[in-house]
Amino acid sequence: MARNMETEIENEAYAELTPIQKFFFGRSIFITGATGFVGKVLVEKLLRCCPGIGMLYLLMRPKRNKTAEERLEILFKSELFSKLKEVNPTFQKKVRLIDGDLLKERLGISDENFEELKATVSVVFHSAARVQFNDPIKVAVQHNIVGTKVFMDMCQEMPNLEAVVHVSTAYVRKEEDNYVYEQIPKTKVTPKQILDAMEWMDPAGQKAVEDYLLEGKFTTYLVTKALGEVVVSQECRGTPTSIVRPCNISPTFRDPFPGWCDSIQGLSGLMLAGAKGVLRTLMSVEDLKLNVVPVDLVVNCMIVSAWHVAKQRPSSVYVVNCVMDYENSTWLFEALKKAFKKKRTQYPLVNMFRYPDFKVYYKWVPYRIHSIIDELVRVHKKIKFIYDIFLRLGREPWICRIENFNAMKDNLKNGDEEVFNLDTDNFDWDVYMEDCFLGGRKFIAHEDPSNIPYAKKKAQIWWLVTTVLKWFFILLLIYFIFPRSLFGNEERIHTIHS
Ligand SMILES: NC(=O)c1ccc[n+]([C@@H]2O[C@H](COP(=O)([O-])OP(=O)(O)OC[C@H]3O[C@@H](n4cnc5c(N)ncnc54)[C@H](OP(=O)(O)O)[C@@H]3O)[C@@H](O)[C@H]2O)c1
Repeated sequence: MARNMETEIENEAYAELTPIQKFFFGRSIFITGATGFVGKVLVEKLLRCCPGIGMLYLLMRPKRNKTAEERLEILFKSELFSKLKEVNPTFQKKVRLIDGDLLKERLGISDENFEELKATVSVVFHSAARVQFNDPIKVAVQHNIVGTKVFMDMCQEMPNLEAVVHVSTAYVRKEEDNYVYEQIPKTKVTPKQILDAMEWMDPAGQKAVEDYLLEGKFTTYLVTKALGEVVVSQECRGTPTSIVRPCNISPTFRDPFPGWCDSIQGLSGLMLAGAKGVLRTLMSVEDLKLNVVPVDLVVNCMIVSAWHVAKQRPSSVYVVNCVMDYENSTWLFEALKKAFKKKRTQYPLVNMFRYPDFKVYYKWVPYRIHSIIDELVRVHKKIKFIYDIFLRLGREPWICRIENFNAMKDNLKNGDEEVFNLDTDNFDWDVYMEDCFLGGRKFIAHEDPSNIPYAKKKAQIWWLVTTVLKWFFILLLIYFIFPRSLFGNEERIHTIHS
């Protein structure tokens, strides 16, 4: 396969590639979820860091009045691809759109397209999923279990497959000892049982099943992702397969540049809400770890695991927990407080809702009093929902075993340890939080760094107005609460004037 590509890359240059780059040389890849947070970074990384890669086939569906073609065009306009455009301006020649949908038979792929995929593709990445925590069980089942089953069935018809990578989540199940093992989880029901139940049950019955599975602590997303893993292990039938399990995914650490993110569903959303002044209060428990992993690390882990299983051909599914070292993870509130305190004056936003001020409460009553005004803001509810997920998942330790992750990491050599970095040992949380803050400012709030001096002046005015108003109301309150005699004898003054 590699030989066909020799016109594209000189032999000499080929010899200089890293082992993983050589593995991907000339290979064609099929990817689901390319419009998602993880999928975009994966596409960019493969195109930029795997010279001589074959074709990337991206499964996409039309959405919100946009055709799949239009969505592909929008995708490549993202700032994320700016570095790739510099190093390889013709990269789009390597990309083929495959119209399809997880919810359709054989993913809705046309016969003609499927013949091409069968003939050329040797590695597949399944990143598409329904990542909504509050979906009704049926919707989550359709995407995360049925969609995965249809995907795996399709893989069985592809004769040249050498690696299947399925993306799951680290929160599928922890054991009573608080450890998350790199194993397929035990589930309360089998995928077949739940699929049958969704077939014949009325909505009330489905709700009862949902309550039974959620046990008042999980979400439909997590339960169906766990069952999705079971589907992968049942249906991989000897094809080298890995399951990559990230915890909460956060902005890029350094690839293609630090701090990139285009979604408010996570750390960046929390930080921006704080910077805008929308979010000023949070209720917490004291020791809450920030369980996040940068998206570029997740993507590296996916690419490395494809290579790893293709080479090692493990006899069962290779499960990889993709997380930061729990012991060295920072405390959520330390990180947020530090970030807000420093950044609100250093890099304020021009478009603020009010002056950013951020307080963490550990007692419910003062929190409720302070948060009343916050909750009047509509977007606050959405942000609070994201935060509650951090709170719910961070409240108890989810300590991920990372033996498989480490085995993969230790195998990286001859440049792969640089290009597909999995090393988190020297991770500097303060620097990373600063990058996340600046990235959120630039890529989500769309505020150019050049406007920082203007934003600083505006923030000073906001601060002045807020402080004056605050003291005005405090004095007014004192005036009405305390006896009038404290402010002089009104009757006497009146007499003198008359
Ligand atoms: N984000 C996190 O913090 C996190 C944490 C742990 C694990 N994960 C896992 O990582 C993977 C990627 O997550 P993400 O953050 O990239 O999610 P995301 O941004 O919500 O993207 C989801 C992707 O799935 C696609 N998709 C959903 N339904 C589809 C359907 N019916 N047909 C075709 N495509 C469909 C979406 O396509 P459209 O654009 O067409 O909707 C989108 O490309 C998921 O498997 C998720 O479970 C994510």
